[in-house]
Amino acid sequence: MRLESLQLLNFKNYKEVNLKFSPRINVLVGKNGSGKTNLLDAIFFLSSTKSAFSASDHNCILHDQSHFMVKGTFQVGSSMHEIASSVQVGAKKIFRVGRSEYQKLSDHIGKFPVILIAPDDIELVKEGSEARRKFFDSMISQLDREYLEDLMHYNHALKQRNSLLKMAHDRGSIDWIAVESYDHLLDKYGSSIFEKRKGFVREFLPVFRKFYQFIVEENERTDLAYVSELIGKNFLEGLFQSRQRDLALQRTSFGIHRDDYLFTMEEGDIKRLGSQGQQKSFVMSLKLAQFEILKKHNGVKPILLLDDIFDKLDDERIARLLELIKTDLGQLFITDARPDRTRGLLHQIHAEACFFIVENGKVKAHEQS
Ligand SMILES: Nc1ncnc2c1ncn2[C@@H]1O[C@H](COP(=O)(O)OP(=O)(O)OP(=O)(O)O)[C@@H](O)[C@H]1O
Ligand SMILES: [Mg+2]
Repeated sequence: MRLESLQLLNFKNYKEVNLKFSPRINVLVGKNGSGKTNLLDAIFFLSSTKSAFSASDHNCILHDQSHFMVKGTFQVGSSMHEIASSVQVGAKKIFRVGRSEYQKLSDHIGKFPVILIAPDDIELVKEGSEARRKFFDSMISQLDREYLEDLMHYNHALKQRNSLLKMAHDRGSIDWIAVESYDHLLDKYGSSIFEKRKGFVREFLPVFRKFYQFIVEENERTDLAYVSELIGKNFLEGLFQSRQRDLALQRTSFGIHRDDYLFTMEEGDIKRLGSQGQQKSFVMSLKLAQFEILKKHNGVKPILLLDDIFDKLDDERIARLLELIKTDLGQLFITDARPDRTRGLLHQIHAEACFFIVENGKVKAHEQS
Protein backbone atom coordinates (compact mmCIF):
# COMPACT_ATOMS: atom_id res chain seq x y z
CA MET A 1 0.00 0.00 0.00
CA ARG A 2 1.13 3.52 -0.64
CA LEU A 3 0.04 7.10 -0.34
CA GLU A 4 0.21 8.66 -3.76
CA SER A 5 -0.75 12.23 -2.97
CA LEU A 6 -1.69 14.48 -0.09
CA GLN A 7 -3.61 17.71 0.03
CA LEU A 8 -3.89 19.90 3.11
CA LEU A 9 -5.89 22.98 3.85
CA ASN A 10 -5.45 24.83 7.15
CA PHE A 11 -3.94 21.77 8.81
CA LYS A 12 -1.69 22.84 11.70
CA ASN A 13 0.97 25.17 10.28
CA TYR A 14 0.02 24.42 6.64
CA LYS A 15 -2.22 26.92 4.87
CA GLU A 16 -2.35 24.96 1.65
CA VAL A 17 -0.19 22.18 0.32
CA ASN A 18 -0.38 19.69 -2.53
CA LEU A 19 2.13 16.84 -2.69
CA LYS A 20 2.90 13.74 -4.69
CA PHE A 21 5.04 11.04 -3.10
CA SER A 22 7.47 8.34 -4.10
CA PRO A 23 6.22 4.78 -3.62
CA ARG A 24 9.37 4.03 -1.65
CA ILE A 25 11.37 6.48 0.45
CA ASN A 26 10.25 10.04 1.13
CA VAL A 27 12.47 12.23 3.25
CA LEU A 28 11.15 15.41 4.84
CA VAL A 29 13.92 17.75 5.82
CA GLY A 30 13.82 21.18 7.39
CA LYS A 31 14.62 23.13 10.51
CA ASN A 32 13.10 22.51 13.91
CA GLY A 33 9.52 23.72 13.99
CA SER A 34 9.16 23.89 10.19
CA GLY A 35 6.31 21.34 10.00
CA LYS A 36 7.92 17.95 9.28
CA THR A 37 6.13 16.12 12.08
CA ASN A 38 2.87 17.90 11.21
CA LEU A 39 3.04 16.40 7.74
CA LEU A 40 3.46 12.90 9.18
CA ASP A 41 0.56 13.64 11.49
CA ALA A 42 -1.67 14.49 8.52
CA ILE A 43 -0.86 11.07 7.01
CA PHE A 44 -1.52 9.44 10.38
CA PHE A 45 -4.85 11.27 10.52
CA LEU A 46 -5.97 9.82 7.18
CA SER A 47 -5.29 6.33 8.46
CA SER A 48 -6.62 6.55 12.00
CA THR A 49 -9.21 9.36 11.84
CA LYS A 50 -7.33 11.31 14.47
CA SER A 51 -4.04 13.03 15.19
CA ALA A 52 -1.20 11.13 16.81
CA PHE A 53 -0.09 14.19 18.74
CA SER A 54 -3.04 16.53 19.33
CA ALA A 55 -5.69 15.51 21.82
CA SER A 56 -8.47 17.28 19.94
CA ASP A 57 -9.21 17.79 16.25
CA HIS A 58 -9.61 21.49 16.87
CA ASN A 59 -5.95 21.78 17.84
CA CYS A 60 -5.13 20.72 14.29
CA ILE A 61 -6.88 23.71 12.74
CA LEU A 62 -4.46 26.42 11.62
CA HIS A 63 -4.57 29.22 14.18
CA ASP A 64 -7.27 31.84 13.43
CA GLN A 65 -9.11 29.55 11.02
CA SER A 66 -12.34 27.64 11.60
CA HIS A 67 -11.81 24.43 9.65
CA PHE A 68 -9.24 22.11 8.12
CA MET A 69 -9.28 19.55 5.35
CA VAL A 70 -6.95 16.60 4.74
CA LYS A 71 -7.21 14.56 1.58
CA GLY A 72 -5.07 11.70 0.32
CA THR A 73 -5.09 9.08 -2.38
CA PHE A 74 -3.99 5.60 -1.35
CA GLN A 75 -3.11 2.85 -3.74
CA VAL A 76 -3.82 -0.68 -2.53
CA GLY A 77 -2.95 -3.33 -5.10
CA SER A 78 -4.24 -1.86 -8.33
CA SER A 79 -7.09 0.16 -6.85
CA MET A 80 -7.05 3.78 -5.78
CA HIS A 81 -8.94 5.16 -2.78
CA GLU A 82 -9.45 8.80 -2.08
CA ILE A 83 -9.82 9.54 1.63
CA ALA A 84 -10.92 12.97 2.72
CA SER A 85 -11.70 14.45 6.09
CA SER A 86 -12.77 17.86 7.19
CA VAL A 87 -13.18 19.33 10.62
CA GLN A 88 -15.10 22.49 11.28
CA VAL A 89 -15.63 24.21 14.60
CA GLY A 90 -19.17 23.48 15.76
CA ALA A 91 -19.82 20.72 13.22
CA LYS A 92 -19.47 16.95 13.10
CA LYS A 93 -16.20 15.63 11.68
CA ILE A 94 -16.61 14.38 8.12
CA PHE A 95 -14.68 11.33 6.95
CA ARG A 96 -15.15 9.95 3.46
CA VAL A 97 -13.78 7.18 1.28
CA GLY A 98 -14.51 8.13 -2.30
CA ARG A 99 -18.00 9.58 -2.19
CA SER A 100 -19.35 7.67 0.75
CA GLU A 101 -19.21 9.07 4.22
CA TYR A 102 -18.63 6.75 7.16
CA GLN A 103 -21.50 6.35 9.58
CA LYS A 104 -19.05 5.23 12.24
CA LEU A 105 -15.44 6.42 12.21
CA SER A 106 -14.37 3.08 13.67
CA ASP A 107 -15.31 1.43 10.34
CA HIS A 108 -12.25 3.11 8.83
CA ILE A 109 -9.74 1.76 11.36
CA GLY A 110 -7.36 -0.82 9.94
CA LYS A 111 -8.25 -0.25 6.28
CA PHE A 112 -5.20 1.87 5.42
CA PRO A 113 -2.65 0.93 8.07
CA VAL A 114 0.06 3.37 9.00
CA ILE A 115 2.70 2.91 11.70
CA LEU A 116 4.35 5.88 13.31
CA ILE A 117 7.65 5.62 15.15
CA ALA A 118 8.27 8.82 17.08
CA PRO A 119 10.47 9.96 19.98
CA ASP A 120 7.51 9.95 22.38
CA ASP A 121 7.10 6.21 21.90
CA ILE A 122 9.65 5.72 24.63
CA GLU A 123 6.73 6.26 27.01
CA LEU A 124 5.64 2.74 26.09
CA VAL A 125 8.51 1.57 28.22
CA LYS A 126 8.77 4.37 30.73
CA GLU A 127 5.22 5.34 31.59
CA GLY A 128 2.35 3.59 33.32
CA SER A 129 0.20 0.80 31.92
CA GLU A 130 -2.17 3.04 29.96
CA ALA A 131 0.29 3.73 27.15
CA ARG A 132 0.96 0.00 26.75
CA ARG A 133 -2.72 -0.90 26.76
CA LYS A 134 -3.35 1.77 24.13
CA PHE A 135 -0.56 0.42 21.93
CA PHE A 136 -1.82 -3.17 22.02
CA ASP A 137 -5.47 -2.13 21.79
CA SER A 138 -4.85 -0.07 18.72
CA MET A 139 -2.94 -2.94 17.11
CA ILE A 140 -5.55 -5.60 17.89
CA SER A 141 -8.33 -3.22 16.81
CA GLN A 142 -6.70 -2.87 13.42
CA LEU A 143 -6.89 -6.62 12.96
CA ASP A 144 -10.21 -7.32 14.58
CA ARG A 145 -13.23 -5.04 14.23
CA GLU A 146 -15.14 -6.97 16.90
CA TYR A 147 -12.36 -6.31 19.41
CA LEU A 148 -12.66 -2.57 18.88
CA GLU A 149 -16.42 -2.73 19.31
CA ASP A 150 -16.14 -4.87 22.45
CA LEU A 151 -13.68 -2.38 23.84
CA MET A 152 -16.05 0.52 23.22
CA HIS A 153 -18.94 -1.37 24.85
CA TYR A 154 -16.73 -2.33 27.78
CA ASN A 155 -15.60 1.25 28.36
CA HIS A 156 -19.15 2.49 28.17
CA ALA A 157 -20.37 -0.04 30.76
CA LEU A 158 -17.38 0.77 32.96
CA LYS A 159 -18.20 4.47 32.88
CA GLN A 160 -21.82 3.79 33.83
CA ARG A 161 -20.81 1.46 36.64
CA ASN A 162 -18.33 4.00 37.97
CA SER A 163 -20.92 6.75 38.01
CA LEU A 164 -23.27 4.48 39.99
CA LEU A 165 -20.49 3.97 42.53
CA LYS A 166 -19.90 7.68 42.72
CA MET A 167 -23.59 8.43 43.14
CA ALA A 168 -23.85 5.77 45.84
CA HIS A 169 -21.07 7.46 47.72
CA ASP A 170 -22.87 10.82 47.60
CA ARG A 171 -26.22 9.30 48.56
CA GLY A 172 -24.91 6.89 51.16
CA SER A 173 -26.74 3.88 49.65
CA ILE A 174 -26.23 1.67 46.63
CA ASP A 175 -28.44 -0.34 44.30
CA TRP A 176 -26.40 -3.52 43.83
CA ILE A 177 -28.93 -4.88 41.34
CA ALA A 178 -28.20 -1.96 39.02
CA VAL A 179 -24.47 -2.47 39.52
CA GLU A 180 -24.87 -6.15 38.71
CA SER A 181 -26.45 -5.38 35.34
CA TYR A 182 -23.20 -3.64 34.42
CA ASP A 183 -21.17 -6.52 35.87
CA HIS A 184 -22.75 -8.78 33.25
CA LEU A 185 -21.80 -6.40 30.47
CA LEU A 186 -18.23 -6.09 31.76
CA ASP A 187 -18.02 -9.87 31.94
CA LYS A 188 -19.45 -10.33 28.44
CA TYR A 189 -17.15 -7.87 26.66
CA GLY A 190 -14.21 -8.07 29.06
CA SER A 191 -13.82 -11.84 28.86
CA SER A 192 -13.65 -11.71 25.10
CA ILE A 193 -11.09 -8.86 25.24
CA PHE A 194 -9.04 -10.85 27.75
CA GLU A 195 -8.89 -13.93 25.51
CA LYS A 196 -7.93 -11.86 22.49
CA ARG A 197 -5.17 -9.96 24.31
CA LYS A 198 -3.75 -13.25 25.57
CA GLY A 199 -3.82 -14.80 22.11
CA PHE A 200 -2.34 -11.72 20.51
CA VAL A 201 0.69 -11.61 22.82
CA ARG A 202 1.34 -15.26 21.99
CA GLU A 203 1.52 -14.36 18.30
CA PHE A 204 3.38 -11.08 18.82
CA LEU A 205 6.20 -12.25 21.09
CA PRO A 206 8.28 -14.32 18.64
CA VAL A 207 8.03 -11.62 15.97
CA PHE A 208 9.06 -8.96 18.46
CA ARG A 209 12.02 -11.07 19.63
CA LYS A 210 13.18 -11.59 16.07
CA PHE A 211 13.39 -7.82 15.48
CA TYR A 212 15.01 -7.09 18.81
CA GLN A 213 17.68 -9.66 18.15
CA PHE A 214 18.18 -8.26 14.67
CA ILE A 215 18.65 -4.68 15.87
CA VAL A 216 20.90 -5.37 18.87
CA GLU A 217 22.72 -8.23 17.15
CA GLU A 218 23.38 -9.94 20.44
CA ASN A 219 21.69 -12.78 22.14
CA GLU A 220 20.09 -10.60 24.73
CA ARG A 221 16.98 -12.25 26.11
CA THR A 222 13.87 -10.12 26.23
CA ASP A 223 10.39 -10.97 27.29
CA LEU A 224 6.93 -9.54 27.09
CA ALA A 225 4.21 -10.89 29.34
CA TYR A 226 0.52 -10.12 29.47
CA VAL A 227 -0.51 -9.32 33.02
CA SER A 228 -4.18 -9.42 33.95
CA GLU A 229 -6.26 -9.89 37.07
CA LEU A 230 -8.40 -12.16 34.95
CA ILE A 231 -5.67 -14.80 34.81
CA GLY A 232 -7.00 -17.69 36.86
CA LYS A 233 -10.06 -15.76 37.96
CA ASN A 234 -13.68 -15.55 36.88
CA PHE A 235 -14.70 -12.01 35.90
CA LEU A 236 -18.04 -11.94 37.75
CA GLU A 237 -16.49 -13.42 40.85
CA GLY A 238 -13.70 -10.87 40.80
CA LEU A 239 -16.18 -8.01 40.51
CA PHE A 240 -18.27 -9.44 43.30
CA GLN A 241 -15.28 -9.79 45.62
CA SER A 242 -14.11 -6.24 45.05
CA ARG A 243 -17.50 -4.60 45.73
CA GLN A 244 -16.60 -3.05 49.06
CA ARG A 245 -13.30 -1.77 47.74
CA ASP A 246 -15.08 -0.32 44.69
CA LEU A 247 -17.54 1.44 46.91
CA ALA A 248 -14.76 3.01 48.95
CA LEU A 249 -12.76 4.01 45.87
CA GLN A 250 -15.86 5.09 43.92
CA ARG A 251 -14.63 3.23 40.87
CA THR A 252 -14.30 -0.29 39.51
CA SER A 253 -11.08 -1.75 40.81
CA PHE A 254 -11.17 -5.11 39.06
CA GLY A 255 -11.12 -5.83 35.36
CA ILE A 256 -9.27 -5.75 32.08
CA HIS A 257 -9.03 -1.93 32.17
CA ARG A 258 -6.20 -2.53 34.65
CA ASP A 259 -4.26 -4.97 32.47
CA ASP A 260 -0.61 -4.38 31.73
CA TYR A 261 2.16 -5.75 29.53
CA LEU A 262 5.39 -6.43 31.34
CA PHE A 263 8.58 -5.77 29.37
CA THR A 264 11.67 -7.47 30.73
CA MET A 265 15.22 -8.33 29.80
CA GLU A 266 17.72 -10.62 31.44
CA GLU A 267 18.55 -8.09 34.15
CA GLY A 268 14.87 -7.53 34.99
CA ASP A 269 12.29 -4.85 34.33
CA ILE A 270 13.36 -2.80 31.29
CA LYS A 271 11.71 0.35 32.66
CA ARG A 272 14.02 0.45 35.65
CA LEU A 273 17.07 -1.44 34.45
CA GLY A 274 17.30 -0.94 30.71
CA SER A 275 19.79 1.55 29.30
CA GLN A 276 18.41 4.28 27.04
CA GLY A 277 19.72 2.44 24.01
CA GLN A 278 18.13 -0.82 25.12
CA GLN A 279 14.83 0.95 25.75
CA LYS A 280 14.93 2.60 22.35
CA SER A 281 15.75 -0.65 20.58
CA PHE A 282 12.95 -2.33 22.50
CA VAL A 283 10.42 0.27 21.35
CA MET A 284 11.67 0.09 17.78
CA SER A 285 11.24 -3.69 17.83
CA LEU A 286 7.70 -3.35 19.15
CA LYS A 287 6.85 -1.13 16.20
CA LEU A 288 8.58 -3.28 13.61
CA ALA A 289 6.75 -6.32 14.98
CA GLN A 290 3.55 -4.33 14.62
CA PHE A 291 4.48 -3.73 10.97
CA GLU A 292 5.02 -7.42 10.31
CA ILE A 293 1.86 -8.58 12.08
CA LEU A 294 -0.33 -6.03 10.29
CA LYS A 295 1.27 -6.99 7.01
CA LYS A 296 0.61 -10.67 7.64
CA HIS A 297 -3.04 -10.17 8.58
CA ASN A 298 -3.98 -7.55 5.99
CA GLY A 299 -1.83 -8.77 3.14
CA VAL A 300 -0.60 -5.20 2.55
CA LYS A 301 2.49 -3.46 3.83
CA PRO A 302 1.58 -0.62 6.17
CA ILE A 303 3.10 2.79 5.51
CA LEU A 304 5.88 3.56 7.95
CA LEU A 305 6.34 7.06 9.36
CA LEU A 306 9.73 7.49 11.00
CA ASP A 307 9.91 10.70 12.98
CA ASP A 308 13.44 11.72 14.03
CA ILE A 309 14.53 8.18 14.63
CA PHE A 310 18.14 8.53 13.54
CA ASP A 311 18.75 10.79 16.52
CA LYS A 312 17.86 7.99 18.82
CA LEU A 313 20.12 5.16 17.74
CA ASP A 314 23.83 4.50 17.39
CA ASP A 315 25.40 4.00 13.95
CA GLU A 316 25.42 0.22 14.02
CA ARG A 317 21.78 0.03 14.89
CA ILE A 318 20.93 2.60 12.24
CA ALA A 319 22.83 0.54 9.68
CA ARG A 320 20.79 -2.55 10.53
CA LEU A 321 17.57 -0.59 10.41
CA LEU A 322 18.49 0.71 6.97
CA GLU A 323 19.18 -2.80 5.83
CA LEU A 324 15.60 -3.64 6.79
CA ILE A 325 14.30 -0.53 5.07
CA LYS A 326 15.97 -1.52 1.88
CA THR A 327 14.76 -5.08 1.77
CA ASP A 328 11.55 -5.56 3.69
CA LEU A 329 9.65 -2.36 4.24
CA GLY A 330 7.19 -0.64 1.91
CA GLN A 331 6.58 3.07 1.56
CA LEU A 332 8.43 5.21 4.08
CA PHE A 333 8.33 8.77 5.29
CA ILE A 334 11.39 9.88 7.21
CA THR A 335 11.89 13.24 8.89
CA ASP A 336 15.29 14.66 9.71
CA ALA A 337 16.43 18.12 10.71
CA ARG A 338 19.86 17.24 9.31
CA PRO A 339 19.46 16.49 5.57
CA ASP A 340 23.11 15.61 5.01
CA ARG A 341 22.99 12.81 7.52
CA THR A 342 19.96 11.15 5.87
CA ARG A 343 21.37 11.72 2.42
CA GLY A 344 24.63 10.08 3.50
CA LEU A 345 22.90 7.13 5.12
CA LEU A 346 20.69 6.48 2.10
CA HIS A 347 23.66 6.82 -0.19
CA GLN A 348 25.45 4.13 1.81
CA ILE A 349 22.71 1.62 1.10
CA HIS A 350 22.28 2.81 -2.52
CA ALA A 351 18.64 3.66 -1.90
CA GLU A 352 16.83 6.21 -4.00
CA ALA A 353 14.69 8.71 -2.17
CA CYS A 354 12.51 11.69 -2.83
CA PHE A 355 13.48 14.72 -0.71
CA PHE A 356 10.98 17.35 0.44
CA ILE A 357 12.25 20.58 1.87
CA VAL A 358 9.92 21.91 4.54
CA GLU A 359 10.16 25.54 5.51
CA ASN A 360 7.74 27.32 7.74
CA GLY A 361 4.62 25.44 6.70
CA LYS A 362 5.58 25.35 3.03
CA VAL A 363 6.99 22.40 1.19
CA LYS A 364 9.24 24.22 -1.19
CA ALA A 365 10.92 21.79 -3.46
CA HIS A 366 11.63 18.16 -3.91
CA GLU A 367 14.40 16.40 -5.64
CA GLN A 368 15.47 12.90 -6.42
CA SER A 369 18.62 11.78 -4.62
N1 LIG B 1 -2.96 24.42 14.85
C1 LIG B 1 -1.80 25.01 14.52
N2 LIG B 1 -1.79 26.18 13.85
C2 LIG B 1 -0.63 26.79 13.52
N3 LIG B 1 0.59 26.29 13.80
C3 LIG B 1 0.63 25.11 14.46
C4 LIG B 1 -0.55 24.41 14.86
N4 LIG B 1 -0.17 23.29 15.50
C5 LIG B 1 1.17 23.29 15.51
N5 LIG B 1 1.66 24.36 14.89
C6 LIG B 1 3.06 24.76 14.72
O1 LIG B 1 3.78 23.81 13.97
C7 LIG B 1 5.15 23.90 14.36
C8 LIG B 1 5.76 22.56 14.66
O2 LIG B 1 5.77 21.79 13.56
P1 LIG B 1 6.42 20.36 13.64
O3 LIG B 1 6.28 19.75 14.97
O4 LIG B 1 5.86 19.63 12.48
O5 LIG B 1 7.95 20.77 13.40
P2 LIG B 1 9.15 19.83 12.98
O6 LIG B 1 9.59 20.29 11.63
O7 LIG B 1 8.77 18.43 13.13
O8 LIG B 1 10.23 20.28 14.05
P3 LIG B 1 11.34 19.42 14.83
O9 LIG B 1 12.50 19.29 13.90
O10 LIG B 1 11.65 20.27 16.00
O11 LIG B 1 10.73 18.12 15.21
C9 LIG B 1 5.22 24.66 15.65
O12 LIG B 1 5.84 25.87 15.43
C10 LIG B 1 3.78 24.82 16.04
O13 LIG B 1 3.54 26.03 16.67
MG1 LIG C 1 9.35 16.99 14.48
